[in-house]
Amino acid sequence: MSQHQPTTQRRQFLKYLAASPLLTSYSAFAQEVEEALGERLTEPGEVINVFEMEALAREKLPPAHFGYLATGVDSDETLRANREGFSRFQIKPRRLVDVSEIDTSINLLGTGAGSPIVLCPVGSQGAYHADAELGSARAAAAKGHHMILSTQASTPVEAVAEARGAPIWHQLYATNRWENTVQMLQRAEAAGCTAVCLTVDLPGGRNTETQARMTRSDTRTCTACHTGQPKPMLEGLDMRGASLNNPAMTWKVIGRMKEVTSMQVVIKGIEVGFDAAMAVQSGADAIVVSNHGGRAVETGRGSIECLPEVAAAVNGRIPVLIDGGFRRGTDVFKALALGASAVGIGRPYCFGLGAFGQAGVERVLDLLNRELAIAMRGSGTTSIAAIGPDYVHDRGRRV
Ligand code: GLV
Repeated sequence: MSQHQPTTQRRQFLKYLAASPLLTSYSAFAQEVEEALGERLTEPGEVINVFEMEALAREKLPPAHFGYLATGVDSDETLRANREGFSRFQIKPRRLVDVSEIDTSINLLGTGAGSPIVLCPVGSQGAYHADAELGSARAAAAKGHHMILSTQASTPVEAVAEARGAPIWHQLYATNRWENTVQMLQRAEAAGCTAVCLTVDLPGGRNTETQARMTRSDTRTCTACHTGQPKPMLEGLDMRGASLNNPAMTWKVIGRMKEVTSMQVVIKGIEVGFDAAMAVQSGADAIVVSNHGGRAVETGRGSIECLPEVAAAVNGRIPVLIDGGFRRGTDVFKALALGASAVGIGRPYCFGLGAFGQAGVERVLDLLNRELAIAMRGSGTTSIAAIGPDYVHDRGRRV
């Protein structure tokens, strides 16, 4: 529980904050809201939206761990833009359509899933709950979601693939030592991963100030998490003098990867139409529109705002996924209408993991699926493929 004991007056103010749809959209207020919620939400089923789950996770996790999850870069402008970008797009509902049956299933590069919401890679999930990636994978299996595992996972890929019980994709940081990259590709493929999702948005490091600030405020000693051992995917690799960032990487990497793996190659971190076209031309099997959850370059541009130009450049040739700031079923609906084939979430399911372990991840997935189903029915769409450009209006960027 929080060290702060809210006074009655403060509690009233926090209640007001918690009730405001505008303010609960911002992580900055989650810390305040958490104190109002932490006292009364003890079961996953009591949590009514992702923002409440965020507040609970913040309450339960050590500040340094929550800071790692919550951080953007520099002043967190891109992180905020990821949320604010959704307000630029409005849903255009159609009426008197038979929506008594809706189908939310998708197929991505041959992998079927019951929902278009994908669990995107988040590293070090052991820092959020002992269930870690196994909890996320079991929740994904229980609720029918596709999953992408991080290179920096706390749990070996073999165990996660088994827990998911269906093909997963493996996210890759291509190290600047090619032999290491090849070994990781071979290991992921042997574990049953059907695609490799190469992250291309971090060639030169980043400045995660929110993380630094929250770490500074954390007085706990945390040796259980920081063992000095490499992450399971890096075990056995010769990382001496090597780094997970490869500043020399170019579009040729796609062809090189295809020479050494039969997994499909997905490029994650595309933000502009030119690069989307380059990815298709270079042989990518899919792309993910992503600014790494506002954790790469401080562009100030929301991920959803990048989607129209990327979708136009790809023009249906390969699947386009997107992540960054998705917290509502209506956010997912807007992305699908703007041309996404699927939508990734990262922090939201980790809020669930941090708050309640696997059960919290399941609750987050239930909440988002329910909200998406409501948005689909309310807009007169009965399948994911039916959610097209006619269902969204772009009112342009507000300044
Ligand atoms: C890892 O991908 C991170 O953003 O920390």
